[in-house]
Amino acid sequence: MENFPTVLAICRTAMRSPSATLTRNIGKLRDALGSQGHEDQAEALSVVLAGKRATDALAPSRVVLARATVERMTRSVHAPVDKESGAPLASIIFPGDAEQGLEPILEADLGMAIEALVSEWQSAGMLLDAGIRPPLNLLLYGAPGTGKTALAKVIAAQMKLPLVTARLDGLISSFLGTTARNIANLFEFANRYECILLLDEFDAVAKIRDDPHELGEIKRVVNTLLQCLDERRERGFTIAITNHEHLLDAAIWRRFDSRVAIPRPGAGSRRRMVARFLNGVAVEDVDIDFLAWLTDGRSGAEIETLCSSIKRYLVMNGTGRKSLLEALKVNLLLSADHSDSPRQDMFAEDFEGLVRKLSNDEEIRFTQESLARLFNTTQSTISRWIRK
Ligand SMILES: Nc1ncnc2c1ncn2[C@@H]1O[C@H](COP(=O)(O)OP(=O)(O)O)[C@@H](O)[C@H]1O
Ligand SMILES: [Mg+2]
Repeated sequence: MENFPTVLAICRTAMRSPSATLTRNIGKLRDALGSQGHEDQAEALSVVLAGKRATDALAPSRVVLARATVERMTRSVHAPVDKESGAPLASIIFPGDAEQGLEPILEADLGMAIEALVSEWQSAGMLLDAGIRPPLNLLLYGAPGTGKTALAKVIAAQMKLPLVTARLDGLISSFLGTTARNIANLFEFANRYECILLLDEFDAVAKIRDDPHELGEIKRVVNTLLQCLDERRERGFTIAITNHEHLLDAAIWRRFDSRVAIPRPGAGSRRRMVARFLNGVAVEDVDIDFLAWLTDGRSGAEIETLCSSIKRYLVMNGTGRKSLLEALKVNLLLSADHSDSPRQDMFAEDFEGLVRKLSNDEEIRFTQESLARLFNTTQSTISRWIRK
């Protein structure tokens, strides 16, 4: 039969709301094709008739990506609200909004993996047509401040889709009874529009699970969440983020096709971050190398905070060679907790010890000349310190 693929697509779409007449007519068509010797076409129609499950897997129109079932989100669309408090259950960022922010700096292989995932998502419609179900959800986990939320925003920008961000701790209302309804409403909203659903602070559900007074209710919340995630898996893109992946329910964890750990930045990434965050102030390569070395174990957000404080100091106190070291000292004195940053601690002690450490460090390999530059002294002083 000529144009059979088009006819098949129409049948599949129509079968999303099947009626007796429709089924009868598709049945007739199948029998006619069968008797004319088009066995495989008759077979394809049988699959369509065989029921919802089979058609779900076959029909691209079930998925987000089908324009027919999903509406485009405009700025006049508002997120659903909590019925008790009236607070919106989500915030929406549209492509091109200023909030979208810069692309986070990631380790090279991780950046590549994310790129691959985004291009799969971009081709999701095509993959579905070919009978391949692409993973439509992603779980990002790792320490706070490593750029997970920033990454979700960038993915949405690359996909040119609005980002519907719900913080689960916001969804869990003080009236616990309404939490399951809030979750269901939010997913229903996201499923209706072309968008990426971002579930930030995703572990919030897990945290309340331990409250013995609320056991029945929590079970209901977790079940609703599981059900919503399952349903959405076939329909739209979801990114969930947690800083406490070990708190997540095993069943929830399994719902995600891609689970990606976002680590604290390595030496190369820290260098790029420092260069980005100090952009606009006169610092030298040696300063950037040193700051990247010093911030080992720090998250991107912490490096950004440190750099902002340095920037402020330099703007107010001039950018002479001495100022950078002073700026660092001031920052150290003003920020309380460096317990997990041994290198920054070392900086608080004497410079001579630090110079010795730097001159021996495999990772950084500073020459005596750059050390002299960094510590604003002569090479002979540096070499005396090292020999001590
Ligand atoms: N890998 C990174 N590259 C560049 N900037 C980063 C990175 N990680 C964190 N930042 C900075 O810190 C800010 C907060 O990071 P965020 O995405 O909220 O972290 P998380 O969601 O992992 O807690 C970001 O907006 C960005 O300015
Ligand atoms: Mg975050």
